[in-house]
Amino acid sequence: MASGPTLETERLTLRRWRERDRDVFAALNADPEVMEHFPGVLTAEESDQLLRRIDRQFEEFGFGLWAVDIKWARRFIGFCGLAVPTFQTHFTPAVEIGWRFAKDQWGSGYATEAAKAVLEFGFEEVDLEQILSWTIPANQRSQLVMERLGMTRVPEFDFDHPRLLHDDRLRRHIVYRITREEWAEGRG
Ligand SMILES: CC(C)(COP(=O)(O)OP(=O)(O)OC[C@H]1O[C@@H](n2cnc3c(N)ncnc32)[C@H](O)[C@@H]1OP(=O)(O)O)[C@@H](O)C(=O)NCCC(=O)NCCS
Repeated sequence: MASGPTLETERLTLRRWRERDRDVFAALNADPEVMEHFPGVLTAEESDQLLRRIDRQFEEFGFGLWAVDIKWARRFIGFCGLAVPTFQTHFTPAVEIGWRFAKDQWGSGYATEAAKAVLEFGFEEVDLEQILSWTIPANQRSQLVMERLGMTRVPEFDFDHPRLLHDDRLRRHIVYRITREEWAEGRG
C-alpha cells in the first residue's frame, strides 16, 4: 500500500493503511458496540473490502480516511479522515469528515484530536470551502465530536440515506457543517 500524506498531532499519527492493520480493523468492525449505529457488524471480508475502498479514495483524491496510531505505543486504534460519499442526495457532491475507533480507546479525546488535524488538512491543503459530517440522531458520541470541532447542525441538509430502506431505523440522518471561515475564526 502507498505512503503519504501523513498527519501528526501531539499524541497521534494519521497515516496510510498497512497490510498488517487488517486484523485489528476486522476486529474493530466486528464489535457490536462500535457498529451500534450502522446496519450491522462487518465480516472480515467486508472489512477488507472497506479498507480497499478507503485506499482507492486516497489514490483518487489525495485524501481519505487515515489509519490512526497512538504514537508512543505505535498502536493502530481506528480511522479518522475525509471521504467523498458515493451516494447522491440534495447536498452532494460533498466532502465528509468521519471517525471510527476501537471501543477501548473511547474517552481519551483521540477522535477530536485526530479530526482537528483532518480539518486543517481539508481547509489548508485541499482548499475545501466546507466540510460536512452526518450521523443518526441516536449517535450522541459522534455529535459531541462534531460540536467539539466547532461544527454546527444544518437542519435543511438532513436527509434519508438513499441506501437504506424506508422503514430502516437508521435511515434518517442529521448533518453538521463547518465552513472554512468558521474554522479559521475558531483557530484565531
Ligand atoms: C464517535 C467516536 C469516535 C467518539 O469517540 P470519543 O472518544 O467519545 O470522542 P473524543 O475523542 O472526542 O473523546 C472525548 C472524551 O474523551 C475525554 N478525554 C480524556 N482525555 C482527553 C484529552 N486529553 N483531550 C480531550 N478529551 C479527553 C473527554 O472528556 C470525553 O469524555 P466523555 O466521553 O466521558 O465525555 C467513538 O464513539 C466511535 O468510534 N464510535 C463508533 C463509530 C461511530 O459511530 N462513528 C461515527 C459514525 S457517524
